[in-house]
Amino acid sequence: MELTIEQQLSAISHEAIRAKSKNEIQQLANELLQKMTLTEKIGQLFQLAPPEANVEGLKWEHSESNASAQLISAGKVGSILSVVDSSTIFKLQKLAVENSRLGIPLFFAADMIHGCRTGFPINLAMACSFDPELIEKSCQQIAYEIAHTGLNLTFSPMVDLVRDPRWGRVMESNGEDPYLNSQLAAAYVRGYQQGDFSANYSVAACCKHFAAYGAIEGGREYNTVDMSERELRQHYLPGYKACADAGVASFMTSFNIYDGVPATANKFLLRDILRNEWQYQGFAISDYTSSYEMLDHKTAKDEEDVALQCILAGLDHEMVSTSYLNHLENLVNAGKVSLDLINEAVLRMLQFKFQIGLFDNPYKHIYANPEQYMRNSETLELAHQVALESVVLLKNSHDLLPLSKQGKKIALIGPFANSNQVVGAWGSLAKDAECVSLLTGISSLVGADALLCTAGCAINDQDRSGFAEALELAKQADVVILAFGEDQNMSGEAKSRAYLNIPGVQNELALAIKALNKPMVSIIFSGRPLELGWYAEHSDALLQAWFLGNESGNALASLLFGDANPSAKLAMSFPYTVGQIPVYYNQYKTGRPSPTGDYSLFRSCFIDVPNYPLFPFGFGLSYSNFEYKNLKISEKTLVAAQQLIVSVELCNTGVVAGTEVVQLYIECANFSVVRPLRELKAFRRVFLEKNSCKIVEFTLTQQDLAYYNIDMKFTPENRNYVIYVGGSSQATLNANFSYSGEG
Ligand code: NOJ
Repeated sequence: MELTIEQQLSAISHEAIRAKSKNEIQQLANELLQKMTLTEKIGQLFQLAPPEANVEGLKWEHSESNASAQLISAGKVGSILSVVDSSTIFKLQKLAVENSRLGIPLFFAADMIHGCRTGFPINLAMACSFDPELIEKSCQQIAYEIAHTGLNLTFSPMVDLVRDPRWGRVMESNGEDPYLNSQLAAAYVRGYQQGDFSANYSVAACCKHFAAYGAIEGGREYNTVDMSERELRQHYLPGYKACADAGVASFMTSFNIYDGVPATANKFLLRDILRNEWQYQGFAISDYTSSYEMLDHKTAKDEEDVALQCILAGLDHEMVSTSYLNHLENLVNAGKVSLDLINEAVLRMLQFKFQIGLFDNPYKHIYANPEQYMRNSETLELAHQVALESVVLLKNSHDLLPLSKQGKKIALIGPFANSNQVVGAWGSLAKDAECVSLLTGISSLVGADALLCTAGCAINDQDRSGFAEALELAKQADVVILAFGEDQNMSGEAKSRAYLNIPGVQNELALAIKALNKPMVSIIFSGRPLELGWYAEHSDALLQAWFLGNESGNALASLLFGDANPSAKLAMSFPYTVGQIPVYYNQYKTGRPSPTGDYSLFRSCFIDVPNYPLFPFGFGLSYSNFEYKNLKISEKTLVAAQQLIVSVELCNTGVVAGTEVVQLYIECANFSVVRPLRELKAFRRVFLEKNSCKIVEFTLTQQDLAYYNIDMKFTPENRNYVIYVGGSSQATLNANFSYSGEG
């Protein structure tokens, strides 16, 4: 009698797989390659998104009517995209292993970018923690969930440097700074892969989107990128390079062009930089149909030309588009593509499969009841901790926060007051229904008695009928908390915005409530920096909550009532208004700087808005009070390979213990090309009890001062530098030194 699927899943072994050496893997892959026909080889270069993906009752049997099953059985599929149901994964894998001639297993990939079943804060929020260790730990837990879902690879981390909050995908990023981005990029990769992605608890990662997708013009999705090579190398590439150095399993190309050529067929990016300069050994996959989009870019004349350009450029795996499947064979037979080129790509795919242990056990990540491995207490605790470290306190006049747990009537008003729609875009398997709303979080911390709550209005419509009740509740309260923002579906892929306002009639409601003159706390939920000028001026306290995932309400309640102390710092500057964009802290120096950043005739500035943002990169307050003093540097001149020790005394003069993110910036006082006003070179989270001080030390080397100079050489040159240390990119405490390459 044939076993049921359930019984077959229960019978799968999850014994540990022995990690293999590089040599062993190469040998195994080579041996297998010898046995493959050209058609089978090309099959390994294709990622299929079955039309039935995630649909109940997938027809997985080999049948005339199922094109996907036929392709898999014919050995024409290398991997599967976005199937996240373990029994479907099992069925598809069985097809590949049992029906195809060589039984080469598929690998399964999906986007699990800020959590899997447990919803972690969106990535831009996590970046505000400036806490690579916590992100690494979180990714270990996320990997555990992904691995128990049946998947082998996650399309994360996204390390596109971003400077334009109109782009909906800033929520997936680590923000505007290359150094922070690189530190966090590596942390993601270490966390997911844990040095061994053959293990049962780890997954392979994919670094995306290569390259410079974050620089699309006007923040308009899928738009053009045009930048100098120096800018690319200096600011945009370090995040991707950090992934490569951390051993990331794969790279995904981006939708945009670079220097006129779509990234998916960009030889300069894929061969010259990724393969030749970085000696990267993993595989490169296109983004969803990005290869076919060359037809719309009008850089390929037909599908065959798409295939030709992509394989020549060094693309190994094609996502969804079928130019390889349909045309590579002809191209080889016509002598336009060498077999060596095909073999090179196929070997990378086979090596990856050997590396993750799929030939040892193709079902290694498939479990009978995956749900039992999800949302365990350790993972939820981490999601809570990350949420605490993601919320940025932007204003706190007269120490309104933390609120007292007793004796005050609180009116909680706004569309996010009692909403659990806070998973954030790309929520993978996390569910809104499992997110703790602000109302629930506050009620469970301080009880519901002192709480009055109403939405007052929806996020994005014109209905003012709830205003009267909201105003009535606000009148009765001692403190008003506004929970406002943009819908979680207004950021993410294909969610560019031209206006960065809080949508609908929320601002009107805020105005009406403000007129009551009550102490007012504003909490902003969003996937991007919004225009918060009014809220910064008129709220007594302002918190940027982003989308925090499952633990949202609990974490916010802890912060509001002082069980936890905010420590996050902005990973992306907040503009006053859209017209300032791009506004980022590490802008280049100009020939006519405005002395104050405000209007000044014949200076680089606007007549109606300052040059600086409303809130700069690195900024974030705490309930503690941090003071910096005694900045010291070990040498007046840093000579070649020596080190410069920078120390500063940090004191917590406040009334509660807290954590400060100490940041070190450099300014190069003169150089052969223009450099940014400031560049972040180090940071550290430092915990201090109240009334205590600590000496914080950083070590700088010539590498930290280096920059692509006029000859495109990465060098500090023999120049003068200034160091700034403090709690934001506008730190004022500084010291001078010079660098000398001779010594
Ligand atoms: C398109 C997105 O740009 C990319 O980030 C994602 O990984 C793929 N689709 C697959 O879902």
